[in-house]
Amino acid sequence: MDSSTRVGVVGCGQMGAGITEVCARAGCDVTVFEIDAMTAEAGQQRVEKSLDRGVTAGKVTEEERARASAAIRYTTTLEDLADRELVVEAVIEREQDKLDVFARLDKVVTDHNAILASNTSSIPIMKLAMATSRPERVVGMHFFNPVPVLKLVELVPSLLTSDDTAARVRDFATSALGKTVIRSQDRAGFVVNSLLVPYILSAVRMAESGFASAADIDAGMVLGCAHPMGPLRLADLIGLDTIKAIAAAMYEEFKEPSYAAPPSLQRMVEAGLLGRKSGRGFYHYDPPATA
Ligand code: 3HC
Repeated sequence: MDSSTRVGVVGCGQMGAGITEVCARAGCDVTVFEIDAMTAEAGQQRVEKSLDRGVTAGKVTEEERARASAAIRYTTTLEDLADRELVVEAVIEREQDKLDVFARLDKVVTDHNAILASNTSSIPIMKLAMATSRPERVVGMHFFNPVPVLKLVELVPSLLTSDDTAARVRDFATSALGKTVIRSQDRAGFVVNSLLVPYILSAVRMAESGFASAADIDAGMVLGCAHPMGPLRLADLIGLDTIKAIAAAMYEEFKEPSYAAPPSLQRMVEAGLLGRKSGRGFYHYDPPATA
């Protein structure tokens, strides 16, 4: 697979939009599926806004921007992904939703050589693969937010992923997308979230107990450890619902107390305080970020 690969993306939220953008910028023909016209329109705005940022930042030329926009087709019909060679699923981090997507993709994508990848943060790839009739073609391809900026892709083969599938995804991510690939075993959380999520949950517990304020916790890690942003601002960027879902998947797998979501995080999610995307999390955002 290379920059002429026909790519499909399922879901055009924060991560799906970023994946769509980087594939289109690499020259791929991209078809992205969303559940309805309004959500597809919101997804398109996310992609366009990020491309604009790329131009303003001097990372994307006007010509590249126009070419990338023209290479993306938005659809609300999953069957439009029939001819794709690589499909990346990036729907909400809910196991049943992802299982449904994989079962449907298995029927829709006609070429049995095509790869069905998941951008899941934490759900074992083996479970998703078993929803299809082609587990050897199912693999984890985990991007990082913001996708156009962060260089990493985690490659997660399941027990049944073929070597050929893993090699093709590695090659595509490096040669076509310019990403650096690390390989993880198929364990909930993979490499990065296994380290990052307990850290973020510790920061939530620290704020919850009154040990320090959110602003001071974040300042501590930005100024004391040169992290680009503190753990609570990062939680807002990722989405508190996503953090809670990743923590739940990791807790289910390992039963480690450090993976259990603290009560304040649960209450915030129940209250709809999801971070940047809802306009409020540990901080306020005005207006809510769409990209
Ligand atoms: N296209 C291309 N380049 C872009 C861009 C775009 N749309 N938007 C920004 N950039 C470039 C900028 O030009 C800049 O490049 P430079 O360093 O060469 O000047 C760089 O990206 C940073 O952009 P900004 O200056 O606008 O923004 P900040 O310096 O404030 O950085 C940030 C913002 C990139 C979000 C940074 O704070 C950061 O990296 N934070 C940590 C994010 C992180 O940890 N993400 C991982 C989350 S975990 C995850 O995603 C996994 C999931 O499973 C949970």
